[in-house]
Amino acid sequence: MTDSVPPEAAMLPVSFAMLLADAAATEHFGERLAGAVKGYSDGRLMIFLQGDLGAGKTTFSRGFLRGLGHQGRVPSPTYTLIEPYELDPLPVYHMDLYRLQDGAELEFLGLEDLPEQSVLLIEWPERAAAELGEPDLRLCLSLAGQGRELQLEALSVRAAKLLSEL
Ligand SMILES: Nc1ncnc2c1ncn2[C@@H]1O[C@H](COP(=O)(O)OP(=O)(O)OP(=O)(O)O)[C@@H](O)[C@H]1O
Ligand SMILES: [Mg+2]
Repeated sequence: MTDSVPPEAAMLPVSFAMLLADAAATEHFGERLAGAVKGYSDGRLMIFLQGDLGAGKTTFSRGFLRGLGHQGRVPSPTYTLIEPYELDPLPVYHMDLYRLQDGAELEFLGLEDLPEQSVLLIEWPERAAAELGEPDLRLCLSLAGQGRELQLEALSVRAAKLLSEL
């Protein structure tokens, strides 16, 4: 191990799974993760939301945004591709890349101009995998009976710290 790799990095990735019985549980988990993210001040936090159509990615995002203080609607960004939430102190940019034809189109969203201190919640990140690179957190939702299974994986040290505060 070199000096530049923090010792905690050797423990990565950190992951866990849980069952979410209904949509309310998915939203609730979003609020819970927001609780851990609230005091975050360590730069851009990129969260991938993965899972099939209808898996619950937007539902999770609703709870997450509410947990960070957003009070209005949370529309799916399917057509707008990105919905900004200028929350204080931590703005959130909710994206849905399903309709992206090519990862290169990501450049039109101007992500590099977004504040450094912010959270990117990205549905369908697979559409621009090469351009986005590795996330801090990867959340995967899959059907499990009437409910959903959630798998959460921290891929950076700062994200692992957040999970330890859940
Ligand atoms: N844990 C759960 N158990 C059962 N239903 C759920 C659960 N979580 C979310 N749902 C329901 O699944 C449906 C689809 O949810 P949502 O729109 O969040 O999916 P999505 O993953 O964002 O889909 P898309 O890929 O189309 O954007 C909604 O009706 C929502 O209420
Ligand atoms: Mg969605």
